[in-house]
Amino acid sequence: MAVVPISLDALSTHTPEQARQWCAQLEAGDILYFPSTPVPLPHDEIDFLLGQQQTDSSLHKNIAYKPNLDKLSGVDTSTADAQAVKRLQEVMRQYSQRVTGFLTQFLSPYQSRWQLDYASFRPQEEEGRDLPLRRRNDLLHTDAFPTRPTYGARILRFFNNIHPSRTRDWVVSDPFAAIVRQFVPQQIAPRKDGPLGRSAKVLGRAIGLGAAIPSLKRSPYDDFMMRFHNFLKENSRFQAECPKYSFHFPPGSSWMVYTDTVPHAVLAGQYALEQTFLVKPEALVRPEISPLRLLEEIAESRLV
Ligand code: SIN
Ligand code: FE
Repeated sequence: MAVVPISLDALSTHTPEQARQWCAQLEAGDILYFPSTPVPLPHDEIDFLLGQQQTDSSLHKNIAYKPNLDKLSGVDTSTADAQAVKRLQEVMRQYSQRVTGFLTQFLSPYQSRWQLDYASFRPQEEEGRDLPLRRRNDLLHTDAFPTRPTYGARILRFFNNIHPSRTRDWVVSDPFAAIVRQFVPQQIAPRKDGPLGRSAKVLGRAIGLGAAIPSLKRSPYDDFMMRFHNFLKENSRFQAECPKYSFHFPPGSSWMVYTDTVPHAVLAGQYALEQTFLVKPEALVRPEISPLRLLEEIAESRLV
């Protein structure tokens, strides 16, 4: 895995082949890193977001913005200042639109064949956060959403460090394809059989995974990805022994990565913005290395 730095100059002169290569690098587990963000935020918007530190409102929590509904969540509207909530919604809407506009050009081979997922504002200090184990972001993990199955679409995330002076400190490890066979079979004992679809059973046998929780909405693929997220966070041997690469993303930088396959953890930093895209399987330039394809090969069965 590598961090690929991209300058603003490279952005203005790139060819379609270059755009395809960037997609391929992302899909293979690289991080595309912009030392200077290609999605600038006006000073007044940054100042507003940073100002949330001083006020004693419920805007302190991680806040999600749902672009398709133009709605905020994670804000306690009973205690937060109504003006501030309205302003935050505007700032998040702008951010979401700017990132989407940029990626429509930058990742042109995808032709916007993605579902626009949530954006988030992360105002809390990440170091020393007291969260339940499965919600901790300082443990290496791949992303999966408990309530939003992707059916094989890939989770692409774009980040901005908007802290005025501090880096956002990440650790990442080797991507899914390199670790899925190595860790899962020995480490997860099959559980007692539950009511499972055939393909999930085959997958469970093939890679030593226990019964998935039956769900009308989630596919066997989504069940696996959710369990893999939990498994990595709960596995102290993986946390201790896996190869680790540290990156300190400076203030004013952006980066993007497929977080469904690159194990990542945030150790320190405060104030980030993020927008998530669910990239459809048919958009991928290297579908043969997608986690869906890999798991289907192991399971010898369709998983979506
Ligand atoms: C995560 O996706 O685990 C958190 C990353 C971050 O907030 O920097
Ligand atoms: Fe994550």
